[in-house]
Amino acid sequence: MSTIDIATQKHTSLAEEMRQGLRRFGKAVVVVTAWHENKRWAMTATAVSELCMDPPSLLVCINRSASLYSPLTTGANFCINILHAEQEAIANNCFGAIKGEKRFSEGCWDSAACGTPYLRGAQASFICEYEQHVEYGTHAIVIGAVKEVQLYGDVAPLIYLDGRFTKAVAA
Ligand SMILES: Cc1cc2nc3c(=O)[nH]c(=O)nc-3n(C[C@H](O)[C@H](O)[C@H](O)COP(=O)(O)O)c2cc1C
Repeated sequence: MSTIDIATQKHTSLAEEMRQGLRRFGKAVVVVTAWHENKRWAMTATAVSELCMDPPSLLVCINRSASLYSPLTTGANFCINILHAEQEAIANNCFGAIKGEKRFSEGCWDSAACGTPYLRGAQASFICEYEQHVEYGTHAIVIGAVKEVQLYGDVAPLIYLDGRFTKAVAA
């Protein structure tokens, strides 16, 4: 399916239009972490949301091709760490060519009682128990029951907007 941009008269595919639309969807940047098969796992993500308060729950959308996919869909507890605006280096360290344990080389990491790694100094860390997941297209939507929340510092999250990292400015 394609549509025409009235201003430029250019044909664009729906996928390209969706990409362009999502560039305007400012999202808080998180690192999702897990403890699985005696290893720590971490991945930068933005497709994360609160689900509901009753029961307290969050969701994360994870690509089948990501190394964290298997831990998250086979029941590992996980943590959603919302990054501070000054933690861009951690976001850059937790995707792409840097793999496995090396993703923990930036930042101060600790472990919750259940073994799940969490980031000290993150805006907020939500430690979750795996509840269920739903497969959809290339991704799985993983639902976690929030068991513990750590908060740190003032509200100043790292934001991903228009294809780059930026800061949220309070009005
Ligand atoms: C800002 C940003 C947001 C991302 N959000 C997600 C996401 O929500 N879900 C996802 O599966 N991958 C997301 N990714 C891609 C993964 O971080 C990346 O593909 C990662 O390298 C996959 O993990 P692996 O290298 O361990 O396989 C995002 C990447 C960036 C830079």
